[in-house]
This record gives sequence, structure tokens and C-alpha cells, in this order.
Amino acid sequence: MIFSVYVVDDEETIREGIIMALESQYRTGAFSSGEAVLEGIKESPPDLVLLDVGLPGMNGIETLQRIRDAYPDVLVIMVTAYEDIDTVVSAMKLGAYDYAVKPIHMEGLEALVHHALESIRLRKEVQILQERYLKEDLPFFIGESNAMTDVMAFVEMVAKSPDTPVLILGETGTGKELIASAIHYRSPNFSGPFVTVNCAAIPGELIESELFGYEKGAFSGASMSGKKGLIEEAANGTLFLDEIGDLSSEAQAKLLRFLETGEFYRIGSTKTTHVQTRVVSATNLILDQLMENNRFRKDLYYRLAVIKVEVPSMNARLDDIMPLAKHFLVEFSRKFGKGFTSISQEAERALLGHTWTGNVRELRNVIERAVLIGKGQELEADGLGLKEAARKDSDSTPLFHPLPPDGLDLCSLENALQIHYINEALRLALGNESKAAALLRINHHTFRYRKKKLNIA
Ligand SMILES: Nc1ncnc2c1ncn2[C@@H]1O[C@H](COP(=O)(O)OP(=O)(O)OP(=O)(O)O)[C@@H](O)[C@H]1O
Ligand SMILES: [Mg+2]
Repeated sequence: MIFSVYVVDDEETIREGIIMALESQYRTGAFSSGEAVLEGIKESPPDLVLLDVGLPGMNGIETLQRIRDAYPDVLVIMVTAYEDIDTVVSAMKLGAYDYAVKPIHMEGLEALVHHALESIRLRKEVQILQERYLKEDLPFFIGESNAMTDVMAFVEMVAKSPDTPVLILGETGTGKELIASAIHYRSPNFSGPFVTVNCAAIPGELIESELFGYEKGAFSGASMSGKKGLIEEAANGTLFLDEIGDLSSEAQAKLLRFLETGEFYRIGSTKTTHVQTRVVSATNLILDQLMENNRFRKDLYYRLAVIKVEVPSMNARLDDIMPLAKHFLVEFSRKFGKGFTSISQEAERALLGHTWTGNVRELRNVIERAVLIGKGQELEADGLGLKEAARKDSDSTPLFHPLPPDGLDLCSLENALQIHYINEALRLALGNESKAAALLRINHHTFRYRKKKLNIA
């Protein structure tokens, strides 16, 4: 980490003397007035300012005040010609980090600067650790089903090799974006940038300049100074290309070149730029179909899909429904200040019986809405607003028929009912016996016993 230090003094010899002592270790900037340094800070804030008290024009104390107000993260060390206690006290009150007295003892000043910057370094380190801790601590991925734990174990492994491109496939709302960020934060490049590009949201004519950047004057309307592209922004981190299936064919060709060589041309430039970044891409489109119709390049596909992660749809991981629902229940109860702590059995049945075409996102939205409009501690089925097929059936067909005049065989009717509902439950639970048992409000043991007794395969 290279720190930058600005030196403000109206006496050139003092200014230059300090700069000479510091410039081998820090990036430095020299200013002769309070006004000038405020301009400089506005352009690019330094880590530390060495600020003379007796400046012409805006004096040091006033300059200090302005800096502290607008840039509280910038440390200021005051330099005063005489140990004027009042000035020093008011400077410290205004938040100066420390002060030095002229004539300046260079070694002493260097030590002071070093000490001040060390405190920033520690603060920044703590910040990075904290962010990392938060990210790791986030229940970032709920997944208890076998299908999902397999995917997560794979993702964990893949994340460790920071150069390998990964393609994430799956229906809408299955958590592809979440997986992409998991790959980044679990990779050795976690402290680098994670840059998301939504290829579907950026208009076709802009996507190239967004991705590759441009030189000044590359096209009319281009900013005068030129612009870094998102690939460069993602240097030493992860570039997440979301909705990759929507990328224009020109951009596809350029992206392919970048993946092959690690280099690209900024628009309007004749020089190549080299960038090291991991490319993770995702789509809910069927790329095979796009390739058949020549809308997606096969060679690009093979570069992107060195590793392929296929995220299962909600219906292939029913075991995740309740853990996810509870997770979202807690999340939104906290967010909306509600007291929900549990989900009623009927609501659970509705959640398990619903076909989640919008996958996790749909489930999240349903719980969000239910929590927002609901009251109490237990989430009820009514609040979910899900049309439950099974319940509708029982509304239209009465559960009980009148007893036929010649009576009926109660035992075989009982068996028939049990066989019917056990099979139904198994079908809904995709063969998962404990889920099926829960749907029928019996324990797993009883379920197994009846299933065996009734000869259900
Ligand atoms: N396993 C999970 N645990 C917790 N939250 C999840 C999980 N999977 C998805 N989500 C949440 O569901 C929502 C949708 O997930 P995400 O945006 O990652 O889906 P996607 O696959 O990128 O969808 P699309 O193809 O529509 O872009 C997000 O709010 C995400 O945080
Ligand atoms: Mg997405």
C-alpha cells in the first residue's frame, strides 16, 4: 500500500525540504496555500496532509476545518512556527492528528508521518478483515438438499483456482449470481474487485465500450480523457458476465480474443491492454440452442465453459424449500420489524406443494410479501397467496360420500385411501420419504411401516 502525503507551506524551502525527505517512501504533492490544497484534495484525496498554520489567505486552522468537514478520512498533522498553545489546542480540537513545531527536525517529522500512516494502514486492514468476515459469515447460501450440497462442494473447489473460467447454468432465480459471488469471495482473489456486467441490460452499441473502454476521442461523444472498461476494473479480481447469452456477436468475437490472449484493444487504441482476471459467466438461456442457430459462438462457449456449474431448479431440491423459507422469514421479519418465528403446518404444505417456476427468487418474493402484510408469530397459509392444487381438489370433490344402502368395506376403503395419499405424497416430495411423511403428518417410521404393509413400491 503506497500512501500519499500532501505538504502545505508558503515557504518554498520548507516545502521542498519536507518533500525531499518523504518522496522516496510516499507519493507526495506540494501546495503553497490552503485554497490550493483544498483543490488538490478535491481532485484526489491523500492519506495525510502536513499543514502549516501560518498561511497567507485562508489560514491553517480554517483549512483544517474544511478538510475535516469534507474528508474525515484524511489525517492532518499541523506544522506551527511557534508553540502557540492556543492554536495547537484548537487544532487538536478540530481533529488534527498531531502537530510538529518549526524549525522542523526531519527525522522527527518522518517518524510522526510514519506513525500516522501506520494507524491508517491498521484501520484499512481491519476494514478489509471485517468485510471479509461479514461476507464469510453471511448465510450466503442455503442448501441442504443433496443436489445443492454437491454443487456447493464443487463451487468451493473451483473457486480455489483463480484463473479458470466458470460458466454457471440454471433456470431463472436459481441463485446463479449468488454462486458467482461465492466463487469470487472464496477465491484467493477475494480482496480484488468483483465486477458484474449484465450483458442483457447494456444496449448492444454500448457493450463494447463498457467492456473494453476507449481512448480519448475514440468516437463522438466519448469523454475527453478516455475511459477504463469493466475488464480493466476487474483486474486481479473477478469479472462476472451475467446473461452472457445476450452478448452481441461483435462483443463475442472480442471477448473470445481476450480469453485466448489475456489482451484486448481499448476502442480507438492501437495498443493492446493486458489484464489478469477470472471470468465467470452465467445464463438461463439454453446455449446449445443459441449455438445451433449461430447466435452464440462455439469457440467462445468452450473458453467460457472450462468449468461448468449447473444449478438445479427448485423442483429438483424440495429439501431446500423449508430451510430457504425460514431463512427468508427471518430476513424479512427483521427488515420489516415483524415478529414471525415459525411457519404453520398448512403453510408448509402449501409451500411444498407449489411448483416454483421462478425458483428461489419466487419463493423469496412470496415470503417477503407474506411477512410484509402478515401479523403474528406464525406464518399462515392464507398469507402466502399460493393457489394450492391439492386444496382446490378437495374443495370441489367432497371428502365423504353418503353411505351406500348396502354398506361398504371400511377396511379396504381405508387401505385405498392410504395407498392413494402415500403415493401422492411421494410424488410431491419427489420420492423423499421424510418429506412425504411430513406432508401426511406422520413420522418417518410410521410412514415406512404403512408403506411396507400396503405393498407400496
Ligand atoms: N441458495 C440460496 N440461499 C439464499 N438465497 C438465495 C439462494 N439462491 C438464490 N437466493 C436468492 O434468490 C434471489 C435470486 O437469486 P439470483 O439472482 O442469484 O438468481 P439467478 O439465477 O441469477 O436468476 P436470473 O437467471 O433470473 O438472473 C436472490 O435474492 C438470491 O439472493
Ligand atoms: Mg442473475
